[in-house]
Amino acid sequence: MLTAGGKSSKLEGKPVQAIDRRISVAPMMDWTDRHCRYFLRQFSPTLLLYTEMINAAAILRGDRSRLLHFSAPEQPLAIQLGGSDPGQLAQAARIAEDLGHMEVNLNCGCPSDRVHAGAFGACLMNTPAVVAECVAAMKRAVRVPVTVKMRIGVVDRSRAGSTAAATDAAQRFDDADMADLLAFVQAIVAAGADALIVHARKAVLGGLSPHENRTVPPLRYDVVSQLKTMLPGVPVIVNGGLRTTETVVRALGTYDGVMIGREAYHRPELLGELHVALHAGNSTRAVDPAQVLEAMRAYASREVAQGTHLRAITRHMLGLLSGRPGARTRRQVLSRNAQQGGSVDEVITAAMAIAEIAA
Ligand SMILES: Cc1cc2nc3c(=O)[nH]c(=O)nc-3n(C[C@H](O)[C@H](O)[C@H](O)COP(=O)(O)O)c2cc1C
Repeated sequence: MLTAGGKSSKLEGKPVQAIDRRISVAPMMDWTDRHCRYFLRQFSPTLLLYTEMINAAAILRGDRSRLLHFSAPEQPLAIQLGGSDPGQLAQAARIAEDLGHMEVNLNCGCPSDRVHAGAFGACLMNTPAVVAECVAAMKRAVRVPVTVKMRIGVVDRSRAGSTAAATDAAQRFDDADMADLLAFVQAIVAAGADALIVHARKAVLGGLSPHENRTVPPLRYDVVSQLKTMLPGVPVIVNGGLRTTETVVRALGTYDGVMIGREAYHRPELLGELHVALHAGNSTRAVDPAQVLEAMRAYASREVAQGTHLRAITRHMLGLLSGRPGARTRRQVLSRNAQQGGSVDEVITAAMAIAEIAA
């Protein structure tokens, strides 16, 4: 297969592995780095993990090994790219595929001003033709699936006139909004998008902070389920506000998958609970936090020996046993001891002692 840059893909002749998209962890900037992903993987061998958004241009001009490095146990792993230049995205997608990423996802949902200024992220929902070109270019470049993560719509503060008017428009979803949404998804599906990941709320561009854009516009699962009905045959993954095993399992009755963001980070045991719920027939047992800590001890020892700061790993583990007795003390142990230069053994052993008390 001839692709971007004219070279043939390393996957040529090899079958592309099918992906189980039922449960995935959302791309989260500064959170889902490789250490976080390794940690989350301990809770389920099957869930699909996503990288943080990585700027396609940075991959082409920057330090690829730092931006794209991951370890084999993180698989199945998808990369999320940010960008709006079809050629750059195609090249970056090719590089990611060659390194073993199992899916390439395009960010059309991030509302941050920095991303907006770079003309990518959620503002791309205003330009379906550009996104279609990007998807088509990436599809030509790689064999792994190309997916799009999006909102149900965007409201531009500058067009709405004020932040208040924009926020007000973000509360509504009318026929015109549905027409815009359909035009967008039809364009990208026609360009070859293999799945849509839909954050079930609008984004406000230029008015709300990224945090507010994840809380203020209301969740409209009804819109995503309508989309699912209108697009038979197109995998639709729902995202936004799903926090319990019951709601996720129920959502799987409607959608092809559920993407979980903040709750997976703050309460990773949810991922273990879901693994048990979905694989009950295989006598799967809930993950033992002590086993997770033991796996992380081995991982952290290897990483620290190669120069990683222990705190870069333990900062992602603070959600372990969240809500159970001892969680607060263990958070302090993981965070303070790692910061104060404790060894891997000291830090993890202290955290394990607390985990045992909690058990
Ligand atoms: C700290 C943080 C960083 C995020 N970074 C990204 C990102 O890089 N790319 C992206 O598509 N979404 C990003 N998001 C949005 C999440 O992927 C997800 O869509 C959102 O949190 C809603 O899902 P949730 O309610 O399950 O958290 C981020 C969210 C958070 C909390």
